[in-house]
Amino acid sequence: MRNNFITSISDYNLQPTGNVKAKGFSNIALIKYWGKYSKQIPANPSVSFTLSEAFTQTELKFKEKRGNKTNIQVFLDGTNQPDFAPKIEKFFQSIIDYIPFIHYYDFEVHTHNSFPHSSGIASSASGMSALASCLIQMEEEFGYKNEKAIEKASFLARLGSGSASRSLYPGAVVWGETAEIEGSNNEFSISINHRINPIFQDFQDCILLIHKGKKRVSSTLGHQLMNEHLFAEQRFKQAHQNLKILLKALEQADIDTFIRIVEKEALSLHAMMMTSDPYFILMEPQTVKAIQEIWRFREETGEKICFTLDAGANVHVLYPKQSEKNILTFINERLKSLCENQEMLMDYVNQKI
Ligand code: PMV
Repeated sequence: MRNNFITSISDYNLQPTGNVKAKGFSNIALIKYWGKYSKQIPANPSVSFTLSEAFTQTELKFKEKRGNKTNIQVFLDGTNQPDFAPKIEKFFQSIIDYIPFIHYYDFEVHTHNSFPHSSGIASSASGMSALASCLIQMEEEFGYKNEKAIEKASFLARLGSGSASRSLYPGAVVWGETAEIEGSNNEFSISINHRINPIFQDFQDCILLIHKGKKRVSSTLGHQLMNEHLFAEQRFKQAHQNLKILLKALEQADIDTFIRIVEKEALSLHAMMMTSDPYFILMEPQTVKAIQEIWRFREETGEKICFTLDAGANVHVLYPKQSEKNILTFINERLKSLCENQEMLMDYVNQKI
């Protein structure tokens, strides 16, 4: 392993009880991560924008352990959620070498999402990045000075949910090794925000909530299906190529190329799901309609607007801040009615973590 954040219990000055708080933001991938090897090593590098308005606020309370087994309780908006505890237990087990004091405590995890529950917005990236930041704060409370605290938080978040590793940094972020970016690696994300042109730094993301509710296919299963996928190797190669082209477009304010690559990535991700075994269609008719409306509007007006998708039916509409006025009129007139209960989330690239 190139980087390793292993510590020993003697590195810490443990406290009997306490609490820490952190906020974790959602992110939207431009180059998609879909397919992984063991220990959450991505099959290809990915690039994302961190978002501002979609976040998870987490408070982690800890108390010296009573029994043999670590007791973990999870509360969402104040309500105990026993179903969530096993996922956190599994996460804590996977990071025990890096945060060895987990053994010594019982925990209460109190979380609140800024976006509506069951909106189809994945809470794993924001949730796991918030929790990882809480653990890093615990290290600090215990007197452990870590100069690479953000990198370690990203490293830990990755073990909870791959895409969460990107949520620790503002702006544009890369996770996964690529020859194009010095310092990029498979274990934690790094910022590439300094390389992107200002036009992209305040890009807007209007999330069309086409289908609220739980995703039909978990990303765990989706990643797994890439193991046996006939097109996997070609897809991983394509992601590398697309990353190289996108990076240049981000640096040179080449919005047309940005649009071409971002949309191609979204459709390639869905093409993988449509051709896996078993196969899935995660788009809804309104997803396709929204894409067609965006293409039509772009053709009619020349506005620099495009879409991306995650592993679900919701559509992320991306556009420069400077075109906001015209584009918002278009969104309200032609896209809003395609959303469940006409609900949308207005978000934008986060520059303030
Ligand atoms: O981090 P996971 O395991 O939930 O996977 C995320 C996968 C996508 O959202 C579809 C793509 C990405 O890179 O975020």
